[in-house]
This record gives sequence, C-alpha cells and structure tokens, in this order.
Amino acid sequence: MRHHMQSHGGLTSIIAVLVLVLFMVLVRLSITWWILPLRAQRKLRKKGFGGPTPSFPLGNIMEMKKKSNVSEVSSLKQLMTHDIHSTVFPYFAEWQKLHGKVFTYWLGTEPFLYIADPEFLKNMSVIVKGKDWGKPNVFKLDRKPMFGNGLIMTEGDEWVRRRHIITPAFSPSNFKEMINIMVESTKRMITKWVDLTSSGHAELDVECEITATAGEIIAQSSFGIGPQECTKVLQKLRALQVALFKTNRCVGVPYNNFMYPKHTLEAKRLGKEIDELLMSFIMERRKSADTRNEPRDLLGVLLQESHIEDNKRLKKKLATRELVDECKTFFFGGHETTALALTWSLFLLALHPEWQKQLREEIEEVVGDKEFEVGMLTGLKKMGLVMHEVLRLYGPAPNVQRQARGDIRVNDVIIPDSTNIWIDVVSMHHDPTLWGDDVNEFKPERFDGDSHGGCKHKMGFLPFGFGGRMCIGRNWMMMEYKIVLSLVLSRFSFSLSPNYCHSPSIMLSLRPACGLPLVVQPL
Ligand code: HEM
Ligand SMILES: *[C@@H]1O[C@H](CO)[C@@H](O)[C@H](O)[C@H]1NC(C)=O
Ligand SMILES: *[C@@H]1O[C@H](CO)[C@@H](O)[C@H](O)[C@H]1NC(C)=O
Repeated sequence: MRHHMQSHGGLTSIIAVLVLVLFMVLVRLSITWWILPLRAQRKLRKKGFGGPTPSFPLGNIMEMKKKSNVSEVSSLKQLMTHDIHSTVFPYFAEWQKLHGKVFTYWLGTEPFLYIADPEFLKNMSVIVKGKDWGKPNVFKLDRKPMFGNGLIMTEGDEWVRRRHIITPAFSPSNFKEMINIMVESTKRMITKWVDLTSSGHAELDVECEITATAGEIIAQSSFGIGPQECTKVLQKLRALQVALFKTNRCVGVPYNNFMYPKHTLEAKRLGKEIDELLMSFIMERRKSADTRNEPRDLLGVLLQESHIEDNKRLKKKLATRELVDECKTFFFGGHETTALALTWSLFLLALHPEWQKQLREEIEEVVGDKEFEVGMLTGLKKMGLVMHEVLRLYGPAPNVQRQARGDIRVNDVIIPDSTNIWIDVVSMHHDPTLWGDDVNEFKPERFDGDSHGGCKHKMGFLPFGFGGRMCIGRNWMMMEYKIVLSLVLSRFSFSLSPNYCHSPSIMLSLRPACGLPLVVQPL
C-alpha cells in the first residue's frame, strides 16, 4: 500500500514538473513573440511612425496576400505601362496612400520600417555606416540554402574582412580575361540564333536565352567550369529559387517552416547539393592550383589570396566553407540580375526601334569589325544611358534591406534596435515627385550628363544599393551588359511578339512572369 502511494506521489510530481516546464516555455514564447514585438510596436508608434495595425501571429501578412490576389485580376496584362509599382507591390502602394512614405508593418512577429523617401534614407545613412548595418536575421535564416553566409549576408568586422579579400577579384586588371569569356559565350548564343532564324525570322524566348548565356559566363569566369557542369548548378539554383520565393510563404511567423515542410526540406536538399558541387570544383582547383600563373577567374583570385601565408596576412585566408558560400553568392547574384537587366533592355528596345537604331550606329562607330577591348566600353555612351534608364524603370533588384544593430536616432525619432528596414527601390524609381511627370516614360536622355538622371534627390536612384555595401559587381555587370548587347544588336533586330504578356513580378528579383518572347530578325 505504502509502495503504491509512493509511486503515485512520484507520478504527480513528474506531472507537476512537466506542467511547470510547459508553463515556462509558454511564458517565454509569448514574451519573444508577443510581448516584445508589442513593445517594439508601441515604441515605433510613440516615435511617430504610422502603419497598418498588425495582428498576432501573422502581422500584416494576410493583408499583403489579399492585396496581391486582387492585383492579379486587375493586372496590366493588356496595358503596356511602365508604371509598375502598384502591380508588383500593391500592398505598399496602398499603405503609402494612408501612411506616407515612411511607416511600419509586420511580417509575422518581425517589425519592418518601410522607406520610400530618399531624404529620410539619407538622414539615416549619414548616421549609420556600412559596417554597422545588419542584414535582417529573419531573411538570413530563411535564405541560408541560397546565400549561406556569403558577403551579401555578413555584417560587422566579418563583412569588412570579406569585402577586403573579395574586392581585388573585381578589380579592372582582371577584366581583360573576362572579356574573352563573355564574347565567346555570346557568340555561341548568336550562332544558335542564326540557325533558328535561318528562315527569315523567328520567335525566341529571349529571357531564357540570355539567362542561359549569363549563367555560362559566370560559371566560366568565376570557376572556369564549362557549359555542362554549369547547367547542373543552374538547374538546381533555379529550383531552389522557386522553392524559396514562388510559394506563398509566411517568413517572419514563428515556426513558419513547419507550415510547408515539403518546400523547406526541398530547399535544404538543393542547397546542400549545390554546396557539394561547388565544393568539388574548389577541391579540384586547390589540388591543381598553380599560384605562379595569373589567375584566370574569380575563384583563382580568391585561392591566390588564400595562399599568401605570411603571418601578417594570414587573417586574409578564406576557409573552404567560406569559399563555397562566396562562390554561390557570385553564381546567383552574378548571373540572374545581369540577365534580367539585358532582358528588360531588349524589351524596351523592342518597343523603341528608334533607340535600337541609335545604339546600332554607336556600336558600328565604336566597335565596328574589331575585337572587343576594355577601352571601347566607355565609348558606348548612349548604351550607358539606355542601361541606366532600364535599371530605373525595371531594376532587377527591387528593394534593399537592412536591420538596426542598436537604437538609431534620426532627427527626432528613434528606430529601435533590431528593427528591420525595407527600402522600396521600385517606388522611388517611379515617383513623379522625384523624377517629374514623365517618370513612367522611357527616356534614356535624362541620364545624359547627369548620373542621377535628373532625380531631385541623390538617393532616389539606387539600382545597386547604397553606401559601403553597394554592389561589388556593378562594373563587372556594366562590362557584360555592353558586350552582350553590342554583339546581339549588331546582328539582329528585335520587335515584340504578340504572345508577350506584360506582367513584371517579384521572385526575389524583378522579372517578366511569362518570359520575353521577341521576334528576332537577322540583319
Ligand atoms: C544588374 C546587375 C546587378 C544588380 C541590379 C545588383 C544589385 C545589387 C544590390 C541592390 C545589392 C545590395 C546592396 C545593398 O545591400 O546596399 C548588391 C550586392 C551585391 N552584389 Fe550585385 N547586382 C548586380 C550584379 C552583380 C554581379 C555581376 C555580381 C558578381 C559577380 C554581384 C555581386 C554582389 C555581391 C557579392 C553583393 C554583396 C555586397 C556586400 O554586401 O558587400 N552583383 N547587388
Ligand atoms: C484569391 O485566391 C484564392 C485562392 O488562392 C482564389 O480562390 C480566389 O479566386 C482569388 N481571388 C481573386 C479575386 O483572384
Ligand atoms: C533630414 O534632416 C534634415 C536636417 O537635419 C531635416 O531638415 C529634414 O527634415 C530631415 N528629413 C527627413 C525626411 O527626416
């Protein structure tokens, strides 16, 4: 009897402990997911930031989804307008009307400060410099399979170290080698197009073609790998992008990964497979590395840097794991954005044959029958104007993100520690108060003699981000852009296919949702 009582008592106390533990976990969770966000919300409100009212635990996600849904119906498929902000970011367009150009909104339990006012951005960036900005933890975690811990995602002293090691890889002294790679890949694409158009003209999905070529270029110029291996990596990267960005996910909601385990596991698996492929390229190169020769590609430069063994520079070394993440970042960041800039350019040039003609004349004058060389790039001035106008109207990078590391005082308001910051570049690039009434017209001449294109504010034009963290590959991109466009324009003319449907949409980058079918005619 006594024995029975005792075990009964033991059971009760175990249950009591369990209940207590459960209670404590609940208290903790509600503090991190409810009380702390609520306090942050109060703080932001008190400091004068308005915004839509969030609910627990989704924040404003439901509203964002509902609004995206509506826009699909009333989208601009028939109207070929460049006024795209309310199509690609319907919820931000709506909230701007109610709350102005700086306000707060919530992804799950994560507070975001929305900014579409370049003056506010300037005031903020005067106070916080490149190294002191964070990148949102919530995206870092979510996008780990894609970017790992590469340069885009690092911060603080670690970012300084990485940026310092990687910068030489993008110095113009390495560009000569790259030009040959770019010319050769583009010529292969042109040969294919010549075959396809041998009957006179043909309709091609130009987005698809250019993306493949840009992929080949980055594969060869960053790793020295050929088209076949490159295709393997690219296919996996594309699948990963779809798994991460195409589905309606709830980033920011606690444990949101459990809401769609299939996609989460798939993204993890693809990320790992890409890592393994890249790792095998790197190991092979480490084995055969001949550091006396001039490096031929980005990986070569990074490997050479990491061979320098004297004590003073030992800190510069990148571990293999870090190399994988950097290479993955180049691979993805380096081909898709450039391909999209070229794609949107061909779209706009198809709509504006007069600009096609002008560029062709310039190419004839500057390049002619000669082989491409670095010196020609600055000579292609009109092409530079077109490029800037395309990056304004259809910039491949639709937003820039940061996270506060510490309270930031801007004028009289305080942005609390850990607040995420979302800079709406599409909005600023299409804002008539910054650019004038012709903001939604394609007018490359606005950049003639003015690198800000007549924008009223220096921080209103941000195709490559801002401050110390600005895109490291922008000169590289300009080189690739001018080479590919020159070669292609001097061989073909382009017009829009009746099958094109105008639906710019966001899948991390700004892309034509139904591709870009163009009628291509050899000259
Ligand atoms: C049209 C082409 C491109 C666009 C629109 C673009 C845009 C951007 C933007 C908006 C950022 C973020 C800047 C910020 O947070 O302030 C960025 C960063 C970066 N980009 Fe690009 N990019 C392009 C081409 C490239 C290329 C060709 C490469 C490499 C081969 C590249 C590599 C990177 C890297 C490594 C970073 C991170 C820099 C850092 O955080 O220090 N990008 N880019
Ligand atoms: C919104 O989406 C739901 C489900 O995704 C769909 O059933 C509904 O028809 C959509 N509504 C509109 C207006 O497109
Ligand atoms: C930016 O700072 C200037 C000078 O301190 C101030 O006059 C202006 O109102 C600020 N603008 C914004 C949008 O915060």
